[in-house]
Amino acid sequence: MEEYAILAGDFSAIGEASTKFKATLKMLGIPSDLVRRASVIAYEAEMNALIHGGGGVLRMTVYDDRLEIVARDEGPGIPDVSLAMQEGYSTATDEIRELGFGAGMGLPNIDRNADSLLIETEIDKGTTLLATVIFPSP
Ligand SMILES: Nc1ncnc2c1ncn2[C@@H]1O[C@H](COP(=O)(O)OP(=O)(O)O)[C@@H](O)[C@H]1O
Ligand SMILES: [Mg+2]
Repeated sequence: MEEYAILAGDFSAIGEASTKFKATLKMLGIPSDLVRRASVIAYEAEMNALIHGGGGVLRMTVYDDRLEIVARDEGPGIPDVSLAMQEGYSTATDEIRELGFGAGMGLPNIDRNADSLLIETEIDKGTTLLATVIFPSP
């Protein structure tokens, strides 16, 4: 298991945790298409915890048959998850958009790349995202 803090407002460290995950998966010899999918999930989940959740924690656990990525924050929560899942939906500020983020494609991309996705969220309490990538049996 690998775990990294995502520091609020630290845009200089953007993508740092997901980049470390990617290196670990490569080192473990995970097939490259799975590494790519896991990296997309980790990066988008990290971005959301940073931009929308005010920072949090990104964790990856590799099992024999699957890997799990968990992003947890104690931010504002997501009022309407099915709306948030729609392509192009974003509440990112103009400031964030000027940095090149906030296209509203993060959650749809996570969903596309994960074999299963669970989002637990509570207003003013925070959000926990759990994405699983299953290793195809050899
Ligand atoms: N961890 C989170 N905490 C609060 N809101 C979130 C979180 N993750 C996503 N959201 C909400 O869901 C919307 C869509 O997320 P996403 O598809 O990643 O697009 P983007 O990050 O580009 O806005 C965000 O704009 C935000 O309103
Ligand atoms: Mg996003």
